[in-house]
Parts: sequence; C-alpha cells; structure tokens
Amino acid sequence: MSTPIWTLRRLHDVDDQLINQLADVLLDCVEGGASVSFMLPLTRERAVAFWRKVAEGVAAGGRALLVAEDAHGICGTVQLIYDLPENQPHRADVAKMLVHRRARRQGLGAALMRAAEATARECGKSLLVLDTVTGGDAERLYARLDWVRVGEIPNYALFPRGGFCSTTVFYRKLGVE
Ligand SMILES: CC(C)(COP(=O)(O)OP(=O)(O)OC[C@H]1O[C@@H](n2cnc3c(N)ncnc32)[C@H](O)[C@@H]1OP(=O)(O)O)[C@@H](O)C(=O)NCCC(=O)NCCS
Repeated sequence: MSTPIWTLRRLHDVDDQLINQLADVLLDCVEGGASVSFMLPLTRERAVAFWRKVAEGVAAGGRALLVAEDAHGICGTVQLIYDLPENQPHRADVAKMLVHRRARRQGLGAALMRAAEATARECGKSLLVLDTVTGGDAERLYARLDWVRVGEIPNYALFPRGGFCSTTVFYRKLGVE
C-alpha cells in the first residue's frame, strides 16, 4: 500500500489561514457540483463566513473539526456535531465531508470518516448519523464503510446549479473495536 500524501489532525483553534484553506475546499466542492447546503454562485466571503461560524462552534465545544493537509494546505475535512438536544448525549451528526478535487479517489474520504468515527468514540459517542445525496460518490463511500442505509427522502435539496436531489440517511453504531 502506498503512503498517504496527506496528514490528518483535529483542529481546536481555527485561525484565519485555516479558515481560508477550508473556504478553498468548500468552494472547490460546490463548484464541482456537490450539494452541501450552498447554491452557486458561492462567493469567497460567504464561504469564509460559514467557516467562521464553524470555528465558533469548535471553540464552544459543539463541534469536532478534522482536516487533512497536503503540500498545498487543507485538502479534506469532516465535522462531528455534538450540539444536539439534551436527550441525545450519546450521538453526533457527521457533516460537511469535503475532499478537494485534487485529492479525490486516493482513499482520503475513507480515512477522514474512520478518523471521525475514532474521534467520536474517544468522545464517548456510540451512534453517528448523516445524510447524503442519493446516488452520489459519498453514498457509495458510506455504504463501503459499513454505514447502515436507513432510506431515501425524495427531492430533499437542490444541486448548486439547480435541480432537486434526493437524500439518503445513514447511521453507524460505534461499538468497541
Ligand atoms: C464523497 C467524497 C468525500 C469522497 O472522497 P474521496 O477522497 O474521493 O473518497 P475515497 O478516495 O475514499 O473513495 C472514492 C473512490 O475512490 C476509490 N479509491 C480509493 N482509493 C483509491 C486508490 N488508491 N486508487 C484508486 N481508487 C481509489 C474508492 O474505491 C472509491 O471508488 P468509488 O467512487 O467507485 O466507490 C468526495 O467525492 C467529495 O468531497 N465530494 C463532494 C462533497 C460531497 O458530496 N460530500 C459528501 C457530503 S455528505
């Protein structure tokens, strides 16, 4: 197996340089057609504002933010959202799994998800939940990583250039491994 060209880490402080690099990844994914909350055109200012909010959530302990870095900076990211109702302390939502197009199809998405699962376990979580565009690259990724497919919600959101996409909900129980 070849050595990965990235390193993974959890960010606890997210400075402006990191926010800019995270914005680059988000912009690249949305420009590539990913349905991840944003419509085109997506300005850098809006992308930066999104990551500033995330950084606030990280600082407040409501989120865990993981990143992968290559020679050019951040090339992938994923989040665990812990800020959930008080009757769900044992679980987290997985959100904004994003891999820059320059780093795709080399196993980074899988590595980010395994790192997110490990972080969730370390934080005492036993259940993860996410949803993703039906029929997209990410749906195959999660199924391959043994996430359980719950079902599909038709016409749940829009693609960045318009047109409905359905979403598929997945969960994963985190046992001791
Ligand atoms: C979904 C996404 C995160 C996957 O990231 P990725 O880094 O390409 O994921 P992986 O490399 O682990 O797997 C992707 C594919 O590459 C293949 N692959 C992995 N390592 C490989 C390697 N060394 N050589 C060749 N192929 C490889 C995998 O088998 C998989 O194949 P498949 O798509 O045919 O099933 C990425 O496409 C992305 O960011 N998409 C846009 C944003 C998005 O939709 N995010 C999901 C939000 S829920």
